[in-house]
Amino acid sequence: MRIFHLSAECYPVAKIGGLADVVGALPKYQTQAGLQAAVVMPYYNRKFVHDNVFDTVFQGATLLGTRRLYFEILKETTNKLGFELYLIKIPGLLDRENIYGYPDEKEQFIAFQIAFLDWINWSGQTPDIVHCHDHHSGLVPFLMYHSSLYKRLANVPTVFTIHNGQYHGAFGWEKLDYLPEIDFYKTGLLDWNGGINPLASAVKCCWRFTTVSPNYLQELSYSSNGLEYLFYIERHKGLGILNGIDTEVWNAETDPMLPEHYDAAGVTKGKQKNKEALCARFNLDPKKPLITFIGRLVSEKGSDLLPAAIERSLRLHGDKVNFLLLGAGDALTEAALMQLKDTYPANCNVFVGYDEALAHQIYAGADFLLMPSRVEPCGLNQLYAIRYGTVPMVRTTGGLKDTVIDVADEDGYGIRFDEASVDDICTAVSRAITLYSDTKKMQLLRKRMMGLDFSWDRSAKEYIDLYESLKPQL
Ligand code: ADP
Ligand code: GLC
Repeated sequence: MRIFHLSAECYPVAKIGGLADVVGALPKYQTQAGLQAAVVMPYYNRKFVHDNVFDTVFQGATLLGTRRLYFEILKETTNKLGFELYLIKIPGLLDRENIYGYPDEKEQFIAFQIAFLDWINWSGQTPDIVHCHDHHSGLVPFLMYHSSLYKRLANVPTVFTIHNGQYHGAFGWEKLDYLPEIDFYKTGLLDWNGGINPLASAVKCCWRFTTVSPNYLQELSYSSNGLEYLFYIERHKGLGILNGIDTEVWNAETDPMLPEHYDAAGVTKGKQKNKEALCARFNLDPKKPLITFIGRLVSEKGSDLLPAAIERSLRLHGDKVNFLLLGAGDALTEAALMQLKDTYPANCNVFVGYDEALAHQIYAGADFLLMPSRVEPCGLNQLYAIRYGTVPMVRTTGGLKDTVIDVADEDGYGIRFDEASVDDICTAVSRAITLYSDTKKMQLLRKRMMGLDFSWDRSAKEYIDLYESLKPQL
């Protein structure tokens, strides 16, 4: 079975968040299961692309409105990621360094989708499934079924995975000209709320859509930034499949980014060594409980609550606890965190920026990982924390609800709280400090977590079952 995954991100080629991790891992597991899974993404002017060898496998020209675009399809020659990787290069549009944030981002992603369809159409390929991820490839199902240009692909099933339903990629009708010939009486399938909405269009046109956790599928019907009614009416097409993690990349026994390796039997000692290295770098006392945060500093993650919650906790508990935060995003939150670091240098440190190796070192060296998310479709951070024996402290939402059991339960291993609020975070911090003082319990929890299985094996199979279920409809 031949699958094309379309995505803006893929680890280790280009990553901002969990979308990259998923698209860098799921196709690998699918390939191991005997499928022919390929990832297609925009070309980025980044290290991975410079350091590896690519062949040009197709060259073509297409139109974006009246603008003629020449594009190339580049294929990584060795399949070193465990799946086929294709990059779409369009000089002046898809050849830049950053993944998001350019003023002509809409044009970039429309061109990406059209070039993909032109390529598989004109090169005579008929995949078994086209699997689109998030709004960046959300127009593909509509174009496959309602553009006269791509009639040859009209029976190919599409699966659309929603990693984040908050972002829709919407734009105005004045950009309709950018799309190739379409059936005009079908334009309602592009529309939501008076604009072209790629996420909504994908949900309407795809054969099946999935969310990255079962609980998030339920939540979308009452919280999806204006698409609630759509998710309600299309609910028969939805399926929640929990993300897995790449257990080859995330393995404390072999992770090349860690100063000290460990397994479940040696977890407490191994983590202590990692913690000492981390604390030495950030001037923190390794004897105190270390509560950490890793992530994009955006409202979804509840990161704006951190400065007040940390300040209140430090006042409440004196210097009985340390905090270490890694993230970048909202300028006000960044500034507030830096101020906190200046005020409490012995108990709080902050690294503003993106640093993959440091993230690994924090998962390994921390005692607790805090995620006060307002919205969390799945969340991978808590899964990496669990895998490295670090207690997750999470707000009960989205995939966090599906993956973290509170220590109050007999087989629990995390700390859960209900509200994304300073009060609830502070209560969770107090619980963490108390838990940390129970050395035996902490040892037991670490071992228990390292024995849990959140690998892709199960979830990759669920996707394959979904693909198989679409075959008979052909
Ligand atoms: P999201 O995709 O919403 O950002 P996830 O929990 O699914 O959230 O995945 C976040 C991924 O990005 C994880 O691999 C996490 O370690 C990584 N990450 C987030 N921020 C940073 C950062 N500042 N430095 C390094 N890694 C980061
Ligand atoms: C999104 C979500 C996150 C999820 C990730 C991978 O970025 O915010 O919760 O884990 O996608 O699916």
